[in-house]
Amino acid sequence: MKIAVLKELANGEARVSASPETVKKFVALGATMAVEKGAGVSASVADADYQEMGATMGTRQAVLKDADIVLAVQGPDPQSLKGIKKGAWLIASLNPFGERKRVDDYAKLGIDALAMEFMPRITRAQSMDILSSQSNLSGYKAVLLAANEYGRVFPMMMTAAGTVSAARCFVMGVGVAGLQAIATARRLGAQVSATDVRSATKEQIQSLGAKPIFVESVEGIEGEGSGGYATEMSEEYQKAQAELVSSHIAKQDIVITTALIPGRAAPRLISDAQIATMRTGSVIVDLAAEQGGNVEGAVAGQVVEKHGVKIIGASNIPAMMAADSSALFARNLYNFLSAYWDEEAKRPVLPDDDEVTIGIRLTRDGKVVNERLLAN
Ligand code: NAI
Repeated sequence: MKIAVLKELANGEARVSASPETVKKFVALGATMAVEKGAGVSASVADADYQEMGATMGTRQAVLKDADIVLAVQGPDPQSLKGIKKGAWLIASLNPFGERKRVDDYAKLGIDALAMEFMPRITRAQSMDILSSQSNLSGYKAVLLAANEYGRVFPMMMTAAGTVSAARCFVMGVGVAGLQAIATARRLGAQVSATDVRSATKEQIQSLGAKPIFVESVEGIEGEGSGGYATEMSEEYQKAQAELVSSHIAKQDIVITTALIPGRAAPRLISDAQIATMRTGSVIVDLAAEQGGNVEGAVAGQVVEKHGVKIIGASNIPAMMAADSSALFARNLYNFLSAYWDEEAKRPVLPDDDEVTIGIRLTRDGKVVNERLLAN
């Protein structure tokens, strides 16, 4: 049972899909670990750290040869998987909707592609959820990025030279990233408010000491919505939300947007006209910039200035904290594989009728088999 760990080749990707800790744990389960040379360097892990835990280091070709399982952070270019054996599992964040052609190519290679971001939101899979582990860190970092671009301070300061007032921070979309953004902005001393379409988040916002700002005139999503996710809202709701945001946003210094709808473009929450009402020097961080953006004019990976407001378009924020984000990502993969480890077979076995298998398996026996992907 050989597990290969690939070095990430995508631009700006600094993470790695295994840590010395998870290598050690896989070895303890009886796996042979082969890590591509230099795979961990940008995440502060030296080759020697992996070797110390029992891994061998090699070229991509060498680690792929005879591998039963291949781990990566982002879905590798299928061209770079030459030599992978048929029936091997590729486990990574495969961006199935955005990289649909790649999924077809994985099928052609005869491998089982398993997309970790399709992990179902069920209690037993919480520790395997890469979206949660990475979003949590993104929410934290988004606030720090905003603080860096902001020409004022976050906390109220009473000094001998006079008083500086606290920044007002508005978080839109209170999922995993949004909750962490609220907590971080509060810790820095900002006055925080937040909104979401899911009514269950109101209490969570309050429990973090922030003020909920909610559309009351039109019904939002009661409870948690399907699997905890939001859906596209009615036109009536969107109009009411736009009005509410318009009056609130003009008084905000910092806005962090995190709203996503799985498999769709991110909902547009802030228009150019609304940005124009904000105070000069305000900062917006759009965590959804790579999925089409919550904010008009946001560009992923860039800071653009509109009407005197800086708009930070997020691009792979977890890679900015590669040591920690990799450690958590690696643990998500280990938690997944170890939960399905079959002692006798000395390898993980995924039952075909298991909710997790059905959720994450994209390809099998040369075909795309994932219902969510086929239905899209
Ligand atoms: P997400 O990343 O898909 O979306 C972020 C937030 O944006 C969500 O709260 C969503 O409701 C909100 N949103 C969408 N459209 C919006 C709009 N038009 N206006 C304002 N807000 C909008 O969500 P995330 O962070 O992945 O978490 C969603 C839920 O799933 C949370 O309740 C979380 O606790 C739950 N969850 C459960 C897990 C499990 O049980 N295994 C694992 C991870 C999350």
